Amino acid sequence: MQDTFILAKNDLDRVLDELNQHGFSLLDHLHPQALMNQLVQECTTHLQDFREAAIQNGVVSNIRSDHILWIDDALPIAQKHLQLLERLSHEINRAFYTGIQNIEAHFACYRAGEFYALHRDNPQQKNNRVISTVYYLHPEWKEHWGGQLRLQDKNGQWHVIHPEPNRLVLFQSDLLHEVLLSHQQRLSITAWLRTDDKIWAS
Ligand code: OGA
Ligand code: MN
Repeated sequence: MQDTFILAKNDLDRVLDELNQHGFSLLDHLHPQALMNQLVQECTTHLQDFREAAIQNGVVSNIRSDHILWIDDALPIAQKHLQLLERLSHEINRAFYTGIQNIEAHFACYRAGEFYALHRDNPQQKNNRVISTVYYLHPEWKEHWGGQLRLQDKNGQWHVIHPEPNRLVLFQSDLLHEVLLSHQQRLSITAWLRTDDKIWAS
């Protein structure tokens, strides 16, 4: 578990400071290349199991067109990513007394022409999501492929974040954001750091 968490103290301090000041932060080159390659592998070998994200409990929405696969123990490489997020959660709890105790996560695949319209992951504090994280794991990304994450920070300022491979974005789950139309297959792990008393799913 420890071997996958090699976040330098100055990176951690910067992330905590940016979360505090702006409500979001980026961490580039998150995992060693070998682990990222394994994540790409695990994700792509399961693509046929992905389901339409727009259909939840039989209800269809038209705000998103991506496909997802919820992460459980049957996906051991993805669990390594969750272990890193778990450690990050402990640091976030230490800094902000957030009480995060649980992580909920899925792989997501946006094919060419897919998007996720403006939304919040925790509208009106309706669920227990505190921080949303998105990790991009396609092997490469070119600017003209689109698929940017557009996010309004806690001060009302908008930011356009490119889905660079091996980049982790963290943001408050109550912030407004969207995924712009992607022109290429765009792969990611979305994970929410939550306050439910499940005490770590992994
Ligand atoms: C989400 C989401 C952003 C992204 O899954 O809720 O907003 O960049 N994802 O994939
Ligand atoms: Mn979202």
